Amino acid sequence: MAEAKQIMPDVLSIARSVQPIMLKSNNPQLQLPGEERKFVLVIMGTYYHTPTYGRLDVLRDVVLVVQEGKIVRIANGHEETEVQEEFGLAEVRQLKAGQYFMPGFIDTHVHAPQYQFTGTGTDVPLMEWLRKYTFPAECSFQDLEAARHRYSLLVKRFLANGTTTAMYYGSLHLQPNLVLVDSIERLGQRAVVGKVNMDRHSPDDYIEDTADGLRDAEEFVTYTLGKKCSRIQPCITPRFIPTCTPELMKGLAEIAQKYGCHIQSHISECCGEVNCVREMHPEYASDAAVFEEMGLLTNRTVMAHGTLLSDDDIRHLARRGTAVSHCPLSNFFLGDAFFKVNHALSLGLKVGLGTDVAGGISPSMLSAQRMAVVNSRCIRAHKLAVSGGTTVTPEMEKDVITFKEALWLATVGGAQALDLADVVGTFEVGKDFDALLVDTNLSGTSGPFDVFEGEDDDQRFEKFINLGDDRNLIEVYVQGVCVKRGDEFLLDGSNVSVKATEDDSDRIMSAPTPVEPEAAYLDLAHRADSSDEAASVDVGAAAEQSEPPTKRSRF
Ligand code: GUN
Ligand code: FE
Repeated sequence: MAEAKQIMPDVLSIARSVQPIMLKSNNPQLQLPGEERKFVLVIMGTYYHTPTYGRLDVLRDVVLVVQEGKIVRIANGHEETEVQEEFGLAEVRQLKAGQYFMPGFIDTHVHAPQYQFTGTGTDVPLMEWLRKYTFPAECSFQDLEAARHRYSLLVKRFLANGTTTAMYYGSLHLQPNLVLVDSIERLGQRAVVGKVNMDRHSPDDYIEDTADGLRDAEEFVTYTLGKKCSRIQPCITPRFIPTCTPELMKGLAEIAQKYGCHIQSHISECCGEVNCVREMHPEYASDAAVFEEMGLLTNRTVMAHGTLLSDDDIRHLARRGTAVSHCPLSNFFLGDAFFKVNHALSLGLKVGLGTDVAGGISPSMLSAQRMAVVNSRCIRAHKLAVSGGTTVTPEMEKDVITFKEALWLATVGGAQALDLADVVGTFEVGKDFDALLVDTNLSGTSGPFDVFEGEDDDQRFEKFINLGDDRNLIEVYVQGVCVKRGDEFLLDGSNVSVKATEDDSDRIMSAPTPVEPEAAYLDLAHRADSSDEAASVDVGAAAEQSEPPTKRSRF
């Protein structure tokens, strides 16, 4: 906590001095239609949120008023009657003891078509994992009926776990991505969504011509904007450098500029990927230098992972207003790498948190928060081990984050990364009401933890963050609309159940057969994953580097 307080002034002073490339969305901020516009929600109770990094604030026994999806008043409990009269309400809803509202989670990195194999395929590093599991799974979404079922299940699972906003990668082919956007719209989630682009080093049946890719990316953008749904923003999505030609990346940057779109990709993720880019683009110093040259670093760009970014790379991203999505679980499984959150924040970088389903083996942002805490403690343990000592020094403590900082990353950090900091992330007048109702009263076998006599609200809330799960989330709100209550998805008219029926379970649920490693594409990448080649990257040196990357640097 003490460390967190030291970090903030640095972050703020650096943030003031950088010059971000500003993109502005062309997506009109339309309000909810018809009856929902008039809808007033007034709830008296206790609200937890983290407006400041490292601090958990509580609004105890307040009356919060939501109108047209936005918080219009936060009044003290004793003003209840006044508020009731002002808004012409028969009564004000009162939360029970042990129930609290908190902001909805913002997952800044999810691969929607990978949801089906989440929790499996954990045996290989990134480049082989893409070839063996990921590309075949994503390719299978050309079956649009299957895509509809799978995407319904995906969005419901994420909403059930409290993810009110997600930054999604779709798949390569245009049509399934339109299905994904439709599913998000129908079920009421907030999202930034992209059609994946890849025009090299990819399987024959999962690759596009450059021109086709650019045309489809633009069509995806116009389709999404055409919905005029303020909850859903399109995103330009070059998968990562190894599968995208410079021509494709430059063309995509132009589309992003034209429509003011978000951009997402993967940057300096792990040895395999970094070695691959070095081999393909020896003329550039780093992934960041490549993305800079292509025009893909903007104030609306979110780059996943960044574990091997140098300090100069981080400073450059910060200058551009580009964010990093920290994906601790997938960094453990696919990357064997750490991301130092506090260090990145101290250099002025925007940082959000991501599950990276399916590289991350859980769709839960609670799990991502816990893993972010564990990741930070692993860094401390690693420093202690390599020091050969038995004393933890203040320097070793610098990287450690608490559950409060992890919660900030999962809410405010994500909102900043997605250029939504004025819209969601905390409970403040003027922001949209994207919120989770947490019930800590589920004891015994009906809930994931027990509460004991004498435990106060703060302890119960901390238990939820560290031990809770979707059972505790009894209501989920997006833009002031309750999208899930108990087991029911209230906007779902399609009757697609979270459980697949026996009849369709084979078709809907089964992952495609993994592809054997002999496949020729990404061969370059495959070599880079091998231990000999990977050893050529000095991970520690790359991450700690403070010199300009090389003479070739474009910064
Ligand atoms: N790099 C390129 N594609 C992917 C992906 O699907 N997941 C992860 N974690 N990294 C990637
Ligand atoms: Fe990813």
